[in-house]
Amino acid sequence: MDSRDTVELSWDEFDELRDPRPAESDFDRVVERAMSRRGFLGSVLAFGSGAAVFGSGLMSSTTAARAETGGFKFTPIGISTDFDVHVPEGYQWKPLVKWGQALFSEAEGAYSPETGVPTAMSDKVFGENTDGMETFEADGHVLLAINSEYVNPKINLPADSEGMPKNAEEVMLLKNMQGVTVLEIAAQDGAWEVVADSPYNRRITHETQMVMDGPAAGSELVKTNADPEGMNPKGTMNNCGSGKTLWGTYLTCEENFNGYFGATGEMPEGEGYGRYGIGGEGRYAYEKFDARYDLTQEPNEPHRHGFVTEINPADPESTPVKHTALGRFKHENAEMVQAADGRIVVYMGDDERGEFMYRYVSNGTWAEGQPTDGLLSDGTLYVAKFNDDQTGEWLALTPETTGMPIEEILVFSRMAGSKVGATTMDRPEWIAANPLKAEAYCALTNNKNRGLKPNAGGDETPVGGPNPREANNYGQIVRWQPEGGDHGADAFAWDLFVMAGNPEAAEGAYKGSENVTAGNMFNSPDGMAFSSDGMLWIQTDGDDSNEGEFAGMGNNQMLVGNPETGEIARFLTAPNGAEVTGLTWSPDGKTAFVGIQHPGGSWPDGAGKPRSAVIQVWREDGDVIG
Ligand code: FEO
Ligand code: CA
Ligand code: CA
Repeated sequence: MDSRDTVELSWDEFDELRDPRPAESDFDRVVERAMSRRGFLGSVLAFGSGAAVFGSGLMSSTTAARAETGGFKFTPIGISTDFDVHVPEGYQWKPLVKWGQALFSEAEGAYSPETGVPTAMSDKVFGENTDGMETFEADGHVLLAINSEYVNPKINLPADSEGMPKNAEEVMLLKNMQGVTVLEIAAQDGAWEVVADSPYNRRITHETQMVMDGPAAGSELVKTNADPEGMNPKGTMNNCGSGKTLWGTYLTCEENFNGYFGATGEMPEGEGYGRYGIGGEGRYAYEKFDARYDLTQEPNEPHRHGFVTEINPADPESTPVKHTALGRFKHENAEMVQAADGRIVVYMGDDERGEFMYRYVSNGTWAEGQPTDGLLSDGTLYVAKFNDDQTGEWLALTPETTGMPIEEILVFSRMAGSKVGATTMDRPEWIAANPLKAEAYCALTNNKNRGLKPNAGGDETPVGGPNPREANNYGQIVRWQPEGGDHGADAFAWDLFVMAGNPEAAEGAYKGSENVTAGNMFNSPDGMAFSSDGMLWIQTDGDDSNEGEFAGMGNNQMLVGNPETGEIARFLTAPNGAEVTGLTWSPDGKTAFVGIQHPGGSWPDGAGKPRSAVIQVWREDGDVIG
């Protein structure tokens, strides 16, 4: 190869040239071992270069058989490619709340199908791009706390802005559409409705005053001109997945916070900017109209975001708390469980190609009725290391193990994880813990760079372990069982619950694991939650072109997986263009609330702008959903 050949390569190809994959990788061996450990996956052998075990004839007969089994209380549905929501026979759905819907009487009629919402009313309506959500009960009232992750500026801004705010008022409009909504709902004639003017109704936005706790609060890294004490940040942003504490508060998780910051002048030198993708111009021009987002003026402001933030939905006057002890990264969700000795355990993913999975363990213990002080501010952060032999361990991030002071460990958690050799993952999205046994699942949504490119910190991303496919466009779900059935234990065993794939249009391991069939195929698992009966609900955020390697998958969807048998059945399909994200249930379990984010067409109104919305799904016979 001459030099001209080299310069014409893409960066990905260049990386490949500099760091070639072994001709005989661990690929077949790792996949086979991962998939064969459990009985229901045990018949899958010889993926990849070995004998092809999948044929379309086998798939269709398997699919037919599974539709009648698996413990599902519904008949699985086919794919869709239209601009509507579909649910199984015997189920119904309707919107519960849509972007722009009034939470207070003064905002009634504020939403227009042509122009959206005026700035003055934008923090008195339901936010845009619904995501994680949880249900709460307070003094007999039913409340939902719901994330609004980001905005769709071409839809949300006046047409003459062409998708970019042109003044401070339009920046404020976008700020107010994001964050969190707390709202009360009540059942009316068998369906749930928003209770307008409820004293619980509340918007928490990029402007809301918060406090910080934990070891990084008050450190030099988080001090700004506006907050010289480094204890009182404003705003929670890019609120993606959610969690619920055992004591009944809401956890909102700050994901792609980096995109809100930009430099109007010379970019300052800053540790961690590169690893976290901070620099250049912000996505929504905030920095041009608000000094807080201008890195030239407030270089530490981004260090105050990317945390798990706790909100008490039952107290509308409460101040949200950013918990630095749970680390700073692109938080997807926060799944809280308890160790055998009563310590609090929180599992968390960092959604970026080649980044890590984390666990927080409190120092203190908790039991019903006891104080919660310090439980999310005094503890240890860990990163996951997966071994190819299906064992793994949680590696503590401490000054001793990383050589970093504790405030740097918590603000630059990615760099701390690299220091201890954490496993680079295929974009960890939601983590869900099985309520019936000590077991947790993480959706690894996809990673086109797997085996081809290091992460932003230079950590290699070799094919292997729970990330067994190069240029992984389909994703997989890894699960682990802590040693001794104790989430506080540092050792675990893992396997893959499913490797998404296309049994008809792909080859080898890209066909997917045995529990993926022509009748249930999907790509890019993302949102996940367990129902109380121990079934795993899986939401997707992937390619909905229904073409090429994605042919036969249709629109994004929600499926149900049986952890015991491995069977997976499609329950709901979304409008084209949308992802399905966010899932919670009414207290009686008879209604599922499901988030539909960034829909296409004119869903759900049928005319005008598309509107992200939370829908309610129920059984016609009034039984518990499932
Ligand atoms: Fe907001 Fe990783 O999804
Ligand atoms: Ca997600
Ligand atoms: Ca996603």
